[in-house]
Amino acid sequence: MCGIVGYVGHDAVLPVLLDGLSRLEYRGYDSAGVAFIDQEQVKIRKKKGRIKNLEQALIEDGLLNRLEIHIGIGHTRWATHGAPSDENSHPHLSADGRIAVVHNGIIENYLELKRFLLDLGYEFQSETDTEVVAHLVEHHYHEHNDGDILAAVRRTIADLEGSYALGVLCADHPNQFIAARKDSPLVLGLGESCNYIASDIPAILSHTRRIVIMEDREIAQLTADAIILYDALGQIVTREPLLVTWDSEAAEKGGYEHFMMKEMHEEPKAVRDTVMPRLRENRIRFDSLNLDRAAINQLDRIRIVACGTAAHAGIVGKYIIEELCRIPVEVDVASEFRYRNPIVTDKTLTIIISQSGETLDTLAAMREAKRQGSQILAIVNVVGSSIAREADHVIYTVAGPEIAVASTKAYNTQLAALYLLAFQMAFEIGKIDAKQLEAYLTKMVDLPNLIEETLSHQDIIQRFAAEHFNAHSIFFIGRGLDFALSMEASLKLKEISYIHSEAYAGGELKHGTIALIEEGTLVVCPMTQPQLVDKMISNIREVKARGAVILGILTPECAKAAEVCDQVIELPSVDPLLAPIVAVTPTQLFAYYMTVNKGFDVDKPRNLAKSVTVE
Ligand code: AGP
Repeated sequence: MCGIVGYVGHDAVLPVLLDGLSRLEYRGYDSAGVAFIDQEQVKIRKKKGRIKNLEQALIEDGLLNRLEIHIGIGHTRWATHGAPSDENSHPHLSADGRIAVVHNGIIENYLELKRFLLDLGYEFQSETDTEVVAHLVEHHYHEHNDGDILAAVRRTIADLEGSYALGVLCADHPNQFIAARKDSPLVLGLGESCNYIASDIPAILSHTRRIVIMEDREIAQLTADAIILYDALGQIVTREPLLVTWDSEAAEKGGYEHFMMKEMHEEPKAVRDTVMPRLRENRIRFDSLNLDRAAINQLDRIRIVACGTAAHAGIVGKYIIEELCRIPVEVDVASEFRYRNPIVTDKTLTIIISQSGETLDTLAAMREAKRQGSQILAIVNVVGSSIAREADHVIYTVAGPEIAVASTKAYNTQLAALYLLAFQMAFEIGKIDAKQLEAYLTKMVDLPNLIEETLSHQDIIQRFAAEHFNAHSIFFIGRGLDFALSMEASLKLKEISYIHSEAYAGGELKHGTIALIEEGTLVVCPMTQPQLVDKMISNIREVKARGAVILGILTPECAKAAEVCDQVIELPSVDPLLAPIVAVTPTQLFAYYMTVNKGFDVDKPRNLAKSVTVE
């Protein structure tokens, strides 16, 4: 996700900003920029691409080491609204060019605010939600004409819905800048005759270890000699600074040992950021997707095409779209799809799923489907990626950058996007009514809390992994959506722990593979589908009779299966249709702890790349 750095002091600010931004590169970004005050003007430089492009621009303009430029804010952008470009990069300027803003987060009501500002005559240079903030600060600043930039920011954030970490610079106040946060992290760094802001500790750890973590709805006013922190009511807050003892490498992971663990803990926010901006008055709003009743009713089938984890998300998508919409759905792994002469017509909707948006197999499959006349809907995590650019419609997951090779939060958000799509289509064609849609959406809103709850059981999973990490072969068996989930659970385990594993439909094992079950074989059984639990209990008895050890992952509605399990991981109660998005997290944690016990590289497993851009 985006990175923010700010500095006010007596040193040349631009090297400090570039150094800070470079220490945030691990968060993933596609453009970078800085705003600073020079000769009583706010100036900005911003560039698509790597930080070095920005540095080169500053060198060419003779700005980089000018000592008299000693206040500024910087930003690395992970695009969520508007493709990567110079114009969409931050900082964004107010119309009069005297206020600059950097932002991390998502302004959920930016369209309403943009319409308000357009009606006032403001013009926009970018597609971003952040530019709305820049103009809104200016509007409030001039409306009260009291020269109080702090008050203008306070009035602005009162208008905002969604998440934000903000840095605001105003030419009228060359010795101070403002910071504010809600839901997106922002820290304050206390230096010697200088002060900092950063979206994450690593950005400023080389300058100061005295850190104050801002809390939601707080605003900070920073000068070289002081930081004044205000709460939501405008009362001054005093908070003892932390003394950070991390080394910078550890700090980049936010204190987690691995990116994978950090990203699993980001799942609640990632799902929330993917779902919430698309809900309005109990309806689903996709920015640019016009799948209306007529378009859906003329479909002869839906194809879902992807690779690896994304393909496993597609299998869950198949189950839920067929269940809700009664439209035939076929799932293909991309590398097979393009070579098996698939049946595609102009009445086929092809859903392409990809975290990176650059997987060559998937990109090529999409082009093949498009060549044969299919409409393409992409579910992608990287704004402006190749697949996103070539698709007819895009639903972005908002997981933020996923650094660990093993995909976790991206899978959860791919499911979230598929659920919203299935609900929207089912509602459009009358398969569910407004009351049912509202009920489903209410459950969707609660999913981040349920994922949070499963994350709280990690110690139980850690203990179980400590018992079984020397296993040679582990089976995941499930029925219905639990079978779809088992495929992803098995891949996660294989790709980081290097333990052989297979996912099997619970009812299929007896048709051959049960021959592999022997004394002590570990069989993991997600059970979230009450209507199938009795069948699963029979399947578990079959493998137990041959010596299997059973780990059950059970919702309360399937608790009866505990009697045939050797150990149980309890899930919160969840609608069976939505269960995979919650039940997957314990299986991700299981793979993680098995790998940690084996001493392998969790984030960079052997033989694998994060984005497979070769056939
Ligand atoms: C996921 O854990 C794997 N690293 C891999 O299967 C991945 O899901 C697959 O390569 C597809 O990548 P994409 O989603 O970026 O297209």
